[in-house]
Amino acid sequence: MKKTVLTSSPDETLEFGRKLGAVLKKGDVVAMDGDLGAGKTLMTRGICEGMGLDPEWVQSPTFTIVNEYVAEGKTPLFHFDTYRLSGEEDFLASGLDEYFYRDGVVVIEWAALIEPLLPEGALRINISGTGDQRTIELEFPEGRFDI
Ligand SMILES: Nc1ncnc2c1ncn2[C@@H]1O[C@H](COP(=O)(O)OP(=O)(O)OP(=O)(O)O)[C@@H](O)[C@H]1O
Ligand SMILES: [Mg+2]
Repeated sequence: MKKTVLTSSPDETLEFGRKLGAVLKKGDVVAMDGDLGAGKTLMTRGICEGMGLDPEWVQSPTFTIVNEYVAEGKTPLFHFDTYRLSGEEDFLASGLDEYFYRDGVVVIEWAALIEPLLPEGALRINISGTGDQRTIELEFPEGRFDI
């Protein structure tokens, strides 16, 4: 299933992220792509807030590949930025695929880098655009995400 969302400001992207975060469930994987500065981290911040977690925690994981956002009584969010990985072998060698089987939501920035490892049911998001305009393209299995 495909869906396209257009936003005209960072706030609108954040708001869409919140909506998405509110419907995500344990085991869901959100695989994001888009150029530098497209809005992947901003979208993740919205998702985090929509899941009832503190959006202030969301930073691009600069020195680590994954950040874990965890709070009592909430579904954890595992936030990946694979930018610094050399490829899927690197991901596997570090045992990071283990996160796909944990009781949380996984969000991946630069998901194309580990393309062959992405679970079949993943929600694919591509963000593109210039200035304040963004085109957010979503692709997911029929009936899987209530968005
Ligand atoms: N409509 C919009 N949606 C999202 N971001 C926008 C929009 N308009 C402008 N921006 C700006 O684009 C930037 C997005 O930055 P962000 O860190 O989220 O991108 P990113 O895709 O995570 O980049 P990187 O590849 O470096 O991790 C912010 O500076 C934000 O203010
Ligand atoms: Mg980022």
